[in-house]
Amino acid sequence: MTQRVLLIVSGGIAAYKSLELVRLLRKRGIAVRAVLTQSAAQFVTPLSLGVLTEDQVYEDLFDLKAEREIGHIQLSRQADLVVVAPATANILARMANGIADDLATTLLLATDKPVLAVPAMNVRMWHHKATQRNLHQLRADGVHVMEPDDGAMACGEFGKGRLPEPEAIATEIARLLALPLPVDMLSDQPDFAGDARPLAGRHILITAGPTQEPIDPVRYIANRSSGKQGFAIAAAAARAGARVTLVAGPVHLLTPAGVDRVDVETARQMLAAVESALPADAAIMVAAVADWRTADAADQKLKKDGSGQPAPLTLVENPDILATLGHHPQRPALLIGFAAETQQIADHARAKLARKGADWIVANDVSGDVMGGDANSVQIVTTAGIETWPTLPKGEVADKLIEKVANALSSRPD
Ligand code: C5P
Repeated sequence: MTQRVLLIVSGGIAAYKSLELVRLLRKRGIAVRAVLTQSAAQFVTPLSLGVLTEDQVYEDLFDLKAEREIGHIQLSRQADLVVVAPATANILARMANGIADDLATTLLLATDKPVLAVPAMNVRMWHHKATQRNLHQLRADGVHVMEPDDGAMACGEFGKGRLPEPEAIATEIARLLALPLPVDMLSDQPDFAGDARPLAGRHILITAGPTQEPIDPVRYIANRSSGKQGFAIAAAAARAGARVTLVAGPVHLLTPAGVDRVDVETARQMLAAVESALPADAAIMVAAVADWRTADAADQKLKKDGSGQPAPLTLVENPDILATLGHHPQRPALLIGFAAETQQIADHARAKLARKGADWIVANDVSGDVMGGDANSVQIVTTAGIETWPTLPKGEVADKLIEKVANALSSRPD
């Protein structure tokens, strides 16, 4: 089936690169329908975009003929992916605030499809606190945001803010659409021996990242988990065809294509989100949940009283989400925990398997720079024994684990 992109071009000197982007997407067999903002039309003409897309180009919210024939809600939902390229500081600000004052932003507010924003702007506009705040908000809302390139700008300044090359944008779009990648990029894709979507029809529930437990309005207890491993597993599960719910603690990562993400902060919120996502065929608990939280988070910032006394903090244990699932009436058929250890890794993992009621524990050695790093050395501990995997990039650990999950689920009844 042809994949469809709704391309929103906003106004900036980089808008001319949208023509090349359309050409590259068409070459990959992706259909493109273009929307121009009023200022983008100063940089590229609807005629050239229309010729390249072989489709009508939409510009005006109140174009009654188009509204009657297609309607902005429909237009926003007919695509598989909505791409804003280039995305100016202005359109990012409007998106982050839910402003719908022209056709482009109305479509962005009305869409239920994944959105990719590809920013391009002057370096100072990029680094401005307002822009960074808007980008943070958009990422938290699940918008995929590509990093701009560094280099010379049309305005004569130098720095970050250049639109990435159209080829890089087209590759990111293809990745988000989960299209087959060019052959030279296939090495990190799982090989499911002819069955490309072995988890089709399955629901996989994943936790990732740290939790943050408030001490007072400005301080919290947390850990160094980056969420990368859990997000890579969610991406691999989605590629394998699963419906994926990813319950994420506070992390700075894009939501992988095809993944339903629920953002939480505390362990108790994570537990509630996990329980409300049940039933699931498999649950993979990758999050580094804080073991303790303060008994009572203070409403006001705690102050030193100058007496040199220890901080007035009482810690209580957080609920164990994995163990709760292990003994839950709706326990997933396959329950997998992670164990971050620095010593006697396999022994601790075996004990954890029993204590938490899990089927597998993925034990990882965190004595190096695994937390935040890109590689992982893991051992899979099950009641049947221990498998030791070589040190691999987190993406490959994810693919191998999902392949193993798919095999395990295929030998169980639905
Ligand atoms: O006990 P420990 O924290 O080492 O266990 C790690 C495993 O248990 C991980 O899978 C982690 O996601 C899960 N866990 C949890 N809830 C907690 C603590 C750990 O789900 N409160």
